[in-house]
Amino acid sequence: MSEERSAFDWETRFAADDTPWERQELHPAMLAWMRAGEFEPGRRVIIPGCGRSPELAFLAGCGLDVTGADLSSTALAFQRQALDQAGHDATLLEGDVLAHHPGKPYDRVYEQTFLCAIPPRLRVDYERALCDWLKPGGHLLALFMQKDVPGGPPYGCALDAMHELFPTERWIWPDDADFIPWPHPSLKGKPELAGVLVRR
Ligand SMILES: C[S@@+](CC[C@H](N)C(=O)[O-])C[C@H]1O[C@@H](n2cnc3c(N)ncnc32)[C@H](O)[C@@H]1O
Repeated sequence: MSEERSAFDWETRFAADDTPWERQELHPAMLAWMRAGEFEPGRRVIIPGCGRSPELAFLAGCGLDVTGADLSSTALAFQRQALDQAGHDATLLEGDVLAHHPGKPYDRVYEQTFLCAIPPRLRVDYERALCDWLKPGGHLLALFMQKDVPGGPPYGCALDAMHELFPTERWIWPDDADFIPWPHPSLKGKPELAGVLVRR
């Protein structure tokens, strides 16, 4: 797949309910990170490209200060309704999250199939934005989509390319062996590699 997805493309997919990347359940990696103490109440967390994923309302319900950002107004309307129904609150930002400049840095970034959704030429901008968003010592909870076949989500994130993108001058990496693959239930089992990178 070579075409770039614009705001219109993503919005169209949500409006048509054509969203095969959705897991229909809380991500097991997020639950494992919760058990490991990554999501303590009061922490500020941003979910770039949150789409309709249920982790946003869940984390808000766990007492975190959550920001969700997406290009799609349909996805954000869904999130607002889910929050209202659950009686939780979160900040929702509509538009290009790469242009987001928070007044106050975040403790955590929860990255669930966002990097693989942006064109590779924007990855450098994303890495710079992540550095800007996270406080020193903040954690990027990364789910890098691994695939070597065409098809969604659009752009795979091989681990060697991720090492280049997130240089050790700015990021503390776990051992590669510590990354955990989580096969996706509805994308032909394509795995996301879960790992925590620490902002220096
Ligand atoms: C593959 S989907 C993942 C959605 C959600 N994280 C999930 O796992 O269900 C990628 C999401 O990123 C959003 N997106 C893509 N480019 C974006 C950008 N530049 N700024 C904000 N959101 C963007 C899309 O609208 C879409 O909701």
